[in-house]
Amino acid sequence: MIGIICALPEELNEIREGMEPDGELEYSGIKYYLGKLCGQDIVCAVCGVGKVFAAICAQTMVLKFRPNLILNVGVAGSLSDSLGVADIVIARQLVQHDMDVTALGEPLGKILGSDIQYIPTSEEVRDRLFSAIMELNADRDFGGKEIKALQGTIVSGDQFISSRGKKQLLVEIFKALACEMEGAAIAQVCYVNKVPFCVLRAISDSADMEARMEYPAFVAIAAKNSAKVIRRYLNNLSAE
Ligand code: ADE
Repeated sequence: MIGIICALPEELNEIREGMEPDGELEYSGIKYYLGKLCGQDIVCAVCGVGKVFAAICAQTMVLKFRPNLILNVGVAGSLSDSLGVADIVIARQLVQHDMDVTALGEPLGKILGSDIQYIPTSEEVRDRLFSAIMELNADRDFGGKEIKALQGTIVSGDQFISSRGKKQLLVEIFKALACEMEGAAIAQVCYVNKVPFCVLRAISDSADMEARMEYPAFVAIAAKNSAKVIRRYLNNLSAE
């Protein structure tokens, strides 16, 4: 079974479209939808915004459904001039930019007393996600827009990033491509439970002064793009 976690209903609705439902269960106020999507057994959920909801959801998925893979899918703010609205970032690794015990001599993002700072995603899964995007680009109708995709670091924190200063800091410290509010929490849960995972995000805003205007306007376009990639990825798995 594959677990799919989104923060917002807009992000999951796109993915659930076409899912053959097979029941739902609720734990701690989060609904888990079971069913088949593109030939794969899926459990998916809208966790809510932020690292705590994301961790509650991921840990519940692990304990109740035993997925052999968890994907976190949704939107993110861009930290790179090369990434515009609807472009995609596949995380190679994730780090919590607001985990700060630097006063005790640790680097930003390091979790005191653990070996956790940057958490790598599954190489196999990110390669397959990237291939799915290349295939979608090759297959696209004449005039259809190519999906641009980069692989790199995604930072997560309980903050909506909307200033040039904060954005620059995240780039300088972490060399990150995108920022969001759940991925690194899901990564940590998967890491401690030894569950393979990956995070795929489409850009909804530029994480600077314009972000609060761009985000509501572009969240749906961005969510559509990430859902398209996930469906192609699942179809490819089913075709093997
Ligand atoms: N998700 C989408 N855009 C974001 C931003 N600018 N900051 C944090 N999370 C986001």
